[in-house]
Amino acid sequence: MSDPILPTDPTPSQSGRSPLALDSANGASTAERRSQALLMRACRREPVERTPVWLMRQAGRYLPEYRRVREQVDFMGLVKNPRLAAEVMIATVDRLGVDAAIIFSDLLPILEPMGMDLEFAVGEGPVIHNPLREPADVQRLHELEDLEPLDYVMDVVRATRAGLDDSIPVIGFAGAPFTLAGYCIEGGTSKAWLHTKTLMYRHEAAWHDLMDRIARAVSRYLVAQLDAGAQLVQLFDSWVGCLSPDDYTRYVLPHSRTAIHEAARRAPVIHFATGNPALLPLLAEAGGSVIGIDWRIELSDAWRLVGHDRAVQGNLDPVVLLSDRDTVRRQTQHVLAQAAGRPGHIFNLGHGILPQTPVENVLELIATVKNS
Ligand code: CP3
Repeated sequence: MSDPILPTDPTPSQSGRSPLALDSANGASTAERRSQALLMRACRREPVERTPVWLMRQAGRYLPEYRRVREQVDFMGLVKNPRLAAEVMIATVDRLGVDAAIIFSDLLPILEPMGMDLEFAVGEGPVIHNPLREPADVQRLHELEDLEPLDYVMDVVRATRAGLDDSIPVIGFAGAPFTLAGYCIEGGTSKAWLHTKTLMYRHEAAWHDLMDRIARAVSRYLVAQLDAGAQLVQLFDSWVGCLSPDDYTRYVLPHSRTAIHEAARRAPVIHFATGNPALLPLLAEAGGSVIGIDWRIELSDAWRLVGHDRAVQGNLDPVVLLSDRDTVRRQTQHVLAQAAGRPGHIFNLGHGILPQTPVENVLELIATVKNS
């Protein structure tokens, strides 16, 4: 029986998988071709023929092919199987025709070698069985000196890079310190992040100790993904929007800056957060040549706030994809109109794609961006 996500025939697909031999035959021009990819030029705010597009969580449960793979292997089993994880993303890029591949992984595996007991429980999302609740618990989070336990992630980077045409950049990623601290403290996803904010407000020294440990680990992890062949990286601060600007400045900004700094010396960094557009200037201050914008603000207003010396990524509400094709087209065109042809816009959603999303609406979005 043939499995569509794992073709046995290695013939290059429409988006043009290149045989490995060609890549290694000409190192310099490979680097040059990769740096000229549409998305890389948009990161540098160079003029482009059309707006590049990719979608956060583009390989996920909304795709029947992905669900079929998941019938055979659990989520962490997939994440730790570099060949399969790379195939899942490569097949998704081929199917959607997007302009970038993000490695197939998650925010949380970095926490395992730091001492967190992580599980992706069926129907529950991520669970950490030994959360950090008291100031003294922070000592349980080890410094990530040695990245060897995360070698499988670097293998996913290499396998994904090897399987795609040079015109498709490979994006590495990590969770931002606040978002990772939130998972460590809550033990899972939360609506209000009450334990997290309570520890932050009541035990500031322990908080900064925790954030320091995470920020140094994230910095090393992002650099390692670049060394393994990612062309750029994205930092996800998915839940930091629960903070005010003043609290972000005091409790978060220095740590996000530490997490980004080294990677940003080597490659473009996309710095993404959701939930509170008032944080945007501070996100830009913390770092990133591209700032990720959610849908709670018009893209043109967001761009003014972060400054036109940065590129921006966003910002369609993922719920729009649960509507119909005409609405998807109209809303996509609205985002493009907000960008107004200014160089440095990468089209994306304002947050990850939802599992209920019809694939045809995703294809409509991508066709609309490509035909504009
Ligand atoms: O297509 C891709 O982008 C694949 C790589 C990817 C995943 N997660 C795979 C995944 C990326 C970049 C992420 C990032 C991620 N993970 C974020 C930031 C993006 C966002 O949406 O805010 C967050 C907050 C997480 C943590 C996480 N992982 C949660 C809360 C959950 C459970 C809820 C959910 O949406 O499923 C996951 C699981 C997860 N990560 C899945 C996938 C494909 C689904 C797991 C499954 O197959 O059952």
